[in-house]
Formats: sequence, structure tokens, C-alpha cells
Amino acid sequence: MSSKQGHSFREWLDERLPVTKFFEDQLLKYYAPKNFNFLYFFGSLALLVLVNQIVTGIVLTMHYKPAAELAFDSVEYIMRDVDWGWLLRYLHSTGASLFFIVIYMHMFRAIFYGSFKKPRELLWLFGMVIFVLLMAEAFMGYLLPWGQMSYWGAQVIISLFGAIPVIGEDLAVWIRGDYVIADATLNRFFALHVIAVPLAILGLVVLHLAALRTTGSNNPDGIEIKKNLNLAGIPRDGIPFHPYYTVKDLYVAGLFITIFAYIVFYTPEMGGMFLEHPNFDPADPMKTPEHIQPVWYFAPYYSILRAIPSKLGGVIGMGASIVVLFLLPWLDRCPVKSIRYRSPLFKLALTAFVLSFLGLGVLGTKPVTELYTLMARVFSVVYFSFFLLLPVFSSVEITKPVPDRVREPILPLAKREGFQWRLIEEGIKALQHSPLYVGIKGALSRMLGKISGS
Ligand code: HEM
Repeated sequence: MSSKQGHSFREWLDERLPVTKFFEDQLLKYYAPKNFNFLYFFGSLALLVLVNQIVTGIVLTMHYKPAAELAFDSVEYIMRDVDWGWLLRYLHSTGASLFFIVIYMHMFRAIFYGSFKKPRELLWLFGMVIFVLLMAEAFMGYLLPWGQMSYWGAQVIISLFGAIPVIGEDLAVWIRGDYVIADATLNRFFALHVIAVPLAILGLVVLHLAALRTTGSNNPDGIEIKKNLNLAGIPRDGIPFHPYYTVKDLYVAGLFITIFAYIVFYTPEMGGMFLEHPNFDPADPMKTPEHIQPVWYFAPYYSILRAIPSKLGGVIGMGASIVVLFLLPWLDRCPVKSIRYRSPLFKLALTAFVLSFLGLGVLGTKPVTELYTLMARVFSVVYFSFFLLLPVFSSVEITKPVPDRVREPILPLAKREGFQWRLIEEGIKALQHSPLYVGIKGALSRMLGKISGS
């Protein structure tokens, strides 16, 4: 097609659909803060993984059989006989775990820079609903291969509803469609996993992005760039999203796909973390596995559930651990958004919260012992204390003055204040002078010299 034809086609299209206008409004004339750092890539990576899950999911559905007697074998058939079936399945199963890594980083970033605060409360709430739906989607997807862990994992989680007073048992039967996990359960989980929940997630992602475009992005300094406009009405600290961030996002997408491909091709089970070993045995309602454990991304909540002695208490604790996240915009009363300008007390509390979350995650995949239960209780107390104490200390926090304009994207170590940064700087210097580092560097440069000489 000649360029003249191409041009006229665009005109033809624009007269019928505002394609160019949409592209201009959303990318060329959309000014994003110029100081985004690597934590700001996780939103676009989440979109990328979402597309991967939908595309691979659609093709998997073409070969999968949602019936109790056929499901396990149909997955084996996909793995062995369908052309590239193994790749499709590993892309989908690895994608599920990477989705959670990406989303946890995305949420952590929002907490780090106070992106959930006014005026972005709704953006955060949409995100939280997506998160809950994502957990439901993963939970229901996990039943589909009809392996031992699929079956017994679902059995344990659905039976939790039985702990709810009065309606609990009936509710559990209603969810399962039977008195135990059975064909009816598999059928309804299939329908929900393949169409209902993905549709809801897609709709919410659209709302999430619309809310983001309404308020504009926050940034690592937590400064509202819309408050400082030039004469043309453009934020002084903003740069057009395209080409600056599209190029950066594409670069990071390339790196991410490389890691993704490495996992898919070399370690798709991730030592039993992404695909659990008991799930390679078909579901057997007569044989309970020795140790039922959730997939890693559910482990922190499962740990809270087990840490509380009563069944109902555990269910309430697990639910509350998610509900408190919804309330974050109203629990944090500090007017300063970014952690860069908040008090050491907040930094300490956030560190304790993150460590407790990780600790709960590790414990959730381990068998119950007295010591682990005690540790899970301590971590649960720390987890909830962060949210309970936040309204108190965030309203009396002594913060640093927030500058008017945004700073450099990534502050060099030398410019950072604080003992911990000096320690890291000294550590890096010591490493660079160590014989091991010098040896490896020398060997690499000799190798590169040989390659370029030959
Ligand atoms: C399918 C899942 C999701 C997708 C595709 C998605 C997509 C995005 C994108 C593209 C951005 C803009 C780029 C960026 O700031 O990284 C963004 C921003 C944001 N997202 Fe999400 N998101 C998802 C889930 C979530 C969840 C679960 C939460 C939190 C509960 C959340 C909270 C936020 C917040 C607060 C912002 C604004 C950040 C800022 O401006 O500093 N998102 N999201």
C-alpha cells in the first residue's frame, strides 16, 4: 500500500471512528510525571499478563473437557498430544503465578508512594475488587486440572464457608452444587473461570484505567503534577506518555517476556511452587493427601486462617486481612503521600508489615508445627497492628517538607540520606574491590576480548 493510500485510509477511518483522536488524547497529549521509576512498570506488565491469560486460556478451552471423569485426562492430552499444547498450558500456569508477583509489586508500589490517597481512593478500590476477583479466578482455575491438590484444596476452602453460623453448611452445598466437590462443582467453576470472572475483571480494568486518567498518575515523590502547569496548561513536570513511556514499557516488557520464557522452558513447575507435585495425580475423593497446602500466592491468608484456633475465627481473620486493605485510604491520615518524606516510624511500620506478609507466606506452605503456629500468630498480630495503629500514628507523624517540583527518577545512593544507604554504598564499594569480583570481571573481559578477536 502506498503512503498516499495509507494516509487516505486513515482519513477514511477517522471520519467514521475517532482513532487518531483517541491515540492523541490517550498517549501523545497525556502527560505523565517525568520521574516514574521501575515500580511504575507493573501496571502495564499486569495488562500484558492479562492478555496472555486470556489468549492462552481461550485455546486451552478448545481442548479441555470440564467433566469429572475427563478433566484430568484432557489436561494430559493437552500436554502430550495437542500441538504446542504443553507450551500453552505452561504459559497459562506460569502466567497465573507471575500475575500475582506483578500485582503484589503493583499494590506494594501504591502503598509505598501513597497512591491510594485522595484523590485516588476510587482507583484503589477498583484495584482491590480486581485483586479479589483475581484470587477467585485463580482458585477456580486451580480446580480444573482435577488433580489431588485441585480437589482437596477446593474441599478445604469451600468447607470453610460451613463455619458461618446458621447458613454456613447450606451455603457450602450451594457453592459446590453437591455434598462434596463433584462434577457439578467442576462445571460451575469452569463457567465462572472461563467467562464470568474474566469479563468482570476486564470491565473493572477499564474502570481502573478511566479513574487513573481522571486523576492522573501519582509518582515516587507523591507530588500532584497537575498543580503546576505552564502557560499552555501542560504540567511542568510531565512528559508525553508516547513515545517516552511506551518505549520504556516496551523495553521492560521485553525483559519480562525473557524471564517468563526462561521459566516456561526450563522450570515451569518452579520446584512445585507454580505447579504442585500432588496435582500430577488424578483427584481421588477416597485419599486425602498427607499435606494440603495452597499455591504460594494464597499462602499468607491461609497462614492467618491456621493461626487462629477456632474455625470461625480463622475465617473472619482471613477475610479481615483483605478487608483492611480496602480501608487503607481512610486508615492512613498522613497528608504526605510518598514514603520519601514520611517519618522513620512509618518506614519501620511498613517494613514490619511487609516482613510479616512474607513470613506468613512462607509459613502458609509449611506443615503445622508448634513453632510455626507460634510464628504465624506473631506475624498475624504484626500484620493487623499495622492497620490498627496506622490511623493513630499517621495523624501525629512528623514528616519532611515535600518539594514543589518532582526530583530525579531514581535518587543515586550518594544523594540519599540515612544510615542504611551509607551501609549499602560501603557494601557495594567493598564488593567491587573483592578478589572474587575482580577475578570474574577480568575473566569476562578476557573472554569478550577473545570473542571479538576471533
Ligand atoms: C488486572 C489487574 C490490574 C491492571 C491491568 C492494572 C493496570 C494499571 C495500570 C496500567 C496503571 C498505570 C501504570 C502504573 O501506575 O503502574 C495502574 C495504576 C494503578 N493501579 Fe492498577 N492494575 C491492576 C490491578 C490493581 C490492583 C489489584 C491495585 C490495588 C489494589 C491497583 C492499584 C493501582 C493504583 C493505586 C494505581 C495508580 C498508581 C500511581 O499513580 O501511583 N491496580 N494500574
